[in-house]
Amino acid sequence: MDKILIKGGKRLAGEVTITGAKNAALGIMPATLLCSGTCVIENLPDIQDIKNYVIMLKKLGASVEKKSNGDTIIDTSTVTADNISEIEEESTKMRASYYMLGALLSKFKDVRLPLPGGCDIGARPIDQHIKGFEALGATVDLKSGFIHVYSKRLKGANIYLDVVSVGATINIMLAAVMAEGVTTIENAAKEPHVVDIANFLNLMGANIKGTGTDVIKITGIKRLKGCTYSVVPDQITAGTYMIAAAATQGDILVKNVIPKHLEPISAKLIEMGNEVIEYDDSIRVVGRRPLHSIGIKTLPYPGFPTDLQQPMGVLMCMADGISTIAESIFENRFKYTNELIKMGADIMTRNNVAIFKGVDRLYAARINATDLRAGAAMIIAGLIAEGVTEVCELKHVDRGYDNIVGRLQALGADIERVDE
Ligand code: UD1
Repeated sequence: MDKILIKGGKRLAGEVTITGAKNAALGIMPATLLCSGTCVIENLPDIQDIKNYVIMLKKLGASVEKKSNGDTIIDTSTVTADNISEIEEESTKMRASYYMLGALLSKFKDVRLPLPGGCDIGARPIDQHIKGFEALGATVDLKSGFIHVYSKRLKGANIYLDVVSVGATINIMLAAVMAEGVTTIENAAKEPHVVDIANFLNLMGANIKGTGTDVIKITGIKRLKGCTYSVVPDQITAGTYMIAAAATQGDILVKNVIPKHLEPISAKLIEMGNEVIEYDDSIRVVGRRPLHSIGIKTLPYPGFPTDLQQPMGVLMCMADGISTIAESIFENRFKYTNELIKMGADIMTRNNVAIFKGVDRLYAARINATDLRAGAAMIIAGLIAEGVTEVCELKHVDRGYDNIVGRLQALGADIERVDE
């Protein structure tokens, strides 16, 4: 088992370049199944979730080739419905395998897969995905941990989402893109990756309008063609390095980002007293002291992203006075606070609220990355703690962060990955 060792106390400085967004790429990979032709995807992150998707596409019969320049060429013209059962194992390893349901329903009108896996941060039901598939005319059977979705034909419908769901919005887009007639998704998610996946589908010839607002209109078309597409930069990874700069009193230029997507994070870092300077496609964060206490409530985009509340929690441990996080998206996203308490943090949680009382310092400990973003939080905690922190259970971090150890080393961190 690998673990990460971090000797805390180094100030991070320099430049870091952000790769494509995990959550956009995880919708784009299954979307390639919908075209007849070859897609060239640029800027795919080198992370375990994407490797898992590559395995699934190959098992379905696609050819996937990574070029020396980093581009990934995906030809799905040889995919057949016969191999869907081959991807059962991989589909349990990640949350975003649920997009295989929408994409394969659209392509073959029949798909049966195990329910998706992923981070344990709450119940994470998929009832809104199911509601969408059923509205399009599909039958959905849930039995023995499997979901079977099938239909003779898919027909456009009006779908109102009862909760703002990124996954349901994208899955319904995938299922509806070649359905007959017009589909409207109301109360849709507005996250940058929702827009990015729609941009990719539109480049393949789809007719999707209104993404980035809460009403999305999809006019079904008969055929999609291949295209070349560059994945939008990862807003959450960028935010992670911004918070690392603030935590270590560092000075980091985060390159290849869309500053507009980072506004909720920039606003909170500034409110705490840090310096944030926006350029066209990069953002510089200079960590300042003292850090002022703040309150955060996680919300769907453009609110503060739930995926960054855990790294922000580490920063709150260093702030003067009492800071709070109200988590309104996932009910079980405070497990990481127990790990921070092992390091000397003063945190109390009550239901969906965590209260952080600032402390003078954190002390190194052996801690676990309880989920993906908790892993990022643990690494940031290690960067500022006194002594050598051991971060274990790296499988979640590997699912979502492209070479985080190498990137932090390049910024001056004393960090290494070792085999236990
Ligand atoms: C996606 C992201 C994840 C991010 C989250 C919120 C991917 C692969 N993952 O997860 O990184 O933290 O968005 O930005 O893109 N819900 C229902 N029924 C449903 C679907 C969702 O009740 O059918 C609830 C969820 O339990 C949660 C809320 O809606 O409370 C939002 O979930 P959703 O946006 O769907 O998150 P994911 O797609 O799982």
